[in-house]
Amino acid sequence: MVSVIYPGSFDPVTDGHVGLIRRAASVFGHVVVAVAGNFRKSELFTRDERVQMLRTVTAGIRNVEIDAFDGLLVDYMRARGSRIVIRGLRAVSDFEYEFQMAHMNGRLDPGIETVFMVASPEETFISSSVVREVAMLGGNIEGMVHPEVARLLKERLVSSGR
Ligand code: PNS
Repeated sequence: MVSVIYPGSFDPVTDGHVGLIRRAASVFGHVVVAVAGNFRKSELFTRDERVQMLRTVTAGIRNVEIDAFDGLLVDYMRARGSRIVIRGLRAVSDFEYEFQMAHMNGRLDPGIETVFMVASPEETFISSSVVREVAMLGGNIEGMVHPEVARLLKERLVSSGR
């Protein structure tokens, strides 16, 4: 059985992520969705909150596991005994960053392969940061995130006074 790792910040998880998780789960035997910190981004939800949200939105998908890690992805992958990273590509603008990450991970551990899945057309415009911004400005994020994630987003933005 091929086990793959889908790492990300998931701050918060969007319907775009879920679409990708579903598709990866239909292709691979086991998908580990791994929540990581990203030094380049400030976080709205804690790691545990992001893990919990992912568990809620993937509850119906049998071969998906939600986990979290600190440190380097390649070290985590080695510890989990997996060598395939799954990442989504939405647009050309994602490419440069993804390319750099894939090459860096391959350099750190030549056994690691990155497999890109192209986002479905109706999800290419969805990203956690845009969803956060729209929610913060009072816009409608229905159909972009799970209703429970929308509720938690609203709650968080109210409590943080944003
Ligand atoms: O959803 P994101 O923020 O685009 O995910 C980026 C993430 C978390 C996958 C990346 O920052 C990562 O792998 N972080 C773990 C630390 C690491 O291994 N950094 C070097 C990768 S080039």
